[in-house]
Amino acid sequence: MKTILFSLFLGISLGTFGQDQYLKDHYKFPIGASMNPRLLAENDAYRKLASTEFNSVTAENHMKMMLIHPDANRFDFAKGDEVVAFAKGQQKRVHGHTLVWHNQVPKWMNEFSGDTQAWEDLLKNHVQTVAKHYQGQVAGWDVVNEAFLDDGSLRPSIWAKNIPDYIAKSFQWAHEADPNAILFYNDYGQDGKPKKMQAILNLVQELQARHIPIHGLGLQMHINIASKNDEILSVINQSQATGLAIHFSELDIAVNPKNDSTFVYQEMTKKAQQQKFELIFKAYQEIPKSQRYGITFWNISDKDTWLRGYFKRPKEYPLLFDESYNRKPAYSQLLKNEK
Ligand code: G3I
Repeated sequence: MKTILFSLFLGISLGTFGQDQYLKDHYKFPIGASMNPRLLAENDAYRKLASTEFNSVTAENHMKMMLIHPDANRFDFAKGDEVVAFAKGQQKRVHGHTLVWHNQVPKWMNEFSGDTQAWEDLLKNHVQTVAKHYQGQVAGWDVVNEAFLDDGSLRPSIWAKNIPDYIAKSFQWAHEADPNAILFYNDYGQDGKPKKMQAILNLVQELQARHIPIHGLGLQMHINIASKNDEILSVINQSQATGLAIHFSELDIAVNPKNDSTFVYQEMTKKAQQQKFELIFKAYQEIPKSQRYGITFWNISDKDTWLRGYFKRPKEYPLLFDESYNRKPAYSQLLKNEK
């Protein structure tokens, strides 16, 4: 009996020896996902994938201003802390998202009125309280998120309106609060928008010339199967040429961007999506090792994607795990591809 069990064990070991079972072990850079603390607590399948498949964790919503700073004199770290506790309990890296954004701003901030100094005090207090709370627990922060419009101009926001030079100040404040954190500027849709891309490159140059600490660029990578490969690759090359850390920070590949209610997720589309995932991973591996902060997916399975709720687009399938939390063929292909 013992011999049979031993042979079985040996067979299984040899059978799997040399084969990676998870993307996070296959690739030599962190593989992350944004996560939702409610699903982590309530959904066994979700939590299982979160545990086994990823070694980097971003809170999808719960470190954003609206949720973490609901009243002027009250921070609510409970849900953000839950996400951190989950990650830390399993030795996973945490990426902080996001300190300053025009969206998901609490009502009290939108209604705030005061002079420039009062606005600066408000934002500095927010950035530094949150960054200090998570000091030593997060590896990096998306300090400023989505500050430019497609034409490269500064996006109108309460921050742009009330705080001159708010981007540089936010990076400075974040650095003072957590000097070891890797500080990112994070944005979407640079592909095919050369003016937006240029504005980001100009920002990096300007901040560096002023010795303001910026260490990384987050390329969100909310793309779709029709996104043009040459435009995506050009954005990656230009970002990498800054020498900063590069994070594909919110990857998903939409298959039904026009929200066609009769859409069927067919083989041809699945294949096109898979090829796009392969292109993204291949391009990422061409970035110098020292600049690879990782690839983060925007949530785990098609069931959890923001694209379904946010755009009321139930027929959307943008991730590597299907609605039943099973791996798609695209996942298996990425596992076979060269490391
Ligand atoms: O929590 C409330 C709930 O109480 C309420 O009943 C419900 C009714 O609509 O809304 C819930 O809040 C929603 C929140 O997600 C939490 O689920 C908001 O409506 C919804 O707008 C919000 O969407 C988030 C979106 O950012 C906000 O712009 C998405 O989940 C989140 O995935 C998305 O993430 C952003 C990144 O942070 C930055 N880059 C773009 C990316 C996609 O938009």
